[in-house]
Amino acid sequence: MNQIIYLFIIIITIEKNIYQIFYELISRKYSMNFKGIRWRCIMKKIEKLMLYIALIFIEFTAIPEILFAQNPLIIPDALTVIHNRKSVRKYLNKPMNNEQLEILLRAGMAAPTAGDKRPWVFIVITDQAMLDSLSLASRGTSMISSAAAAIAVCGDTRIGFKSEVWVQDCSAASENILLAAEAIGLGAVWTGIYLNEEPTKYVKKMLGLPLEVYPLNIISIGYPTGEEKPKNKWNTTKIHWEKW
Ligand SMILES: Cc1cc2nc3c(=O)[nH]c(=O)nc-3n(C[C@H](O)[C@H](O)[C@H](O)COP(=O)(O)O)c2cc1C
Repeated sequence: MNQIIYLFIIIITIEKNIYQIFYELISRKYSMNFKGIRWRCIMKKIEKLMLYIALIFIEFTAIPEILFAQNPLIIPDALTVIHNRKSVRKYLNKPMNNEQLEILLRAGMAAPTAGDKRPWVFIVITDQAMLDSLSLASRGTSMISSAAAAIAVCGDTRIGFKSEVWVQDCSAASENILLAAEAIGLGAVWTGIYLNEEPTKYVKKMLGLPLEVYPLNIISIGYPTGEEKPKNKWNTTKIHWEKW
């Protein structure tokens, strides 16, 4: 919304500038007094105009192209992202770039952790052969072979508390990644590995994880085909006020 208002202000300003330049030229032309044309003034206005055009380019094309894959003019707010997030398992055949992956990883590392220990490790996979191999980890991971990338969110049990708290820490990071993907127009799904013995062994081997590092999940990511929609899960019977 802010960007639309911003765009509107820029257009109004440019319109005013164009109008002023024409006014300067035409009014002087009719009075046939070319000597009096204030070229410096006109040049300044053209300079200003160029600056606004450059601003529009930066604001609406270059940076959002990287940040907002879907629509550079629409930057969804946090609640819209939360409610629009859905598991996306069908992807377009389109590669992702490293900037997009870094946005997701930064979002993951922005999550809270117990004691601020940050016991997470993120393995980023873009290699097609590896995506194909990981898609065989379990019955729930098949979509990974058609994903543009995957992030295995792992917990390093050597860091942090000597307990299973890493599962909660890495879950918070995973949800942040899912939300960030939605925010930048990508689609993602959490595929569970943790607590599944065979898939855990398989993924640990495939990714060469140290003994003390466990995969919580593999997040499969790509450009959504648009078929999958968010579910309405609002259910007041799940809420108890003050006491059960
Ligand atoms: C712990 C966990 C494990 C999951 N494992 C899988 C999985 O292996 N394969 C899969 O396709 N989806 C998996 N999902 C995604 C759920 O199926 C999905 O979140 C659920 O159906 C609700 O749909 P939504 O995400 O679109 O709201 C998992 C989600 C969580 C939180």
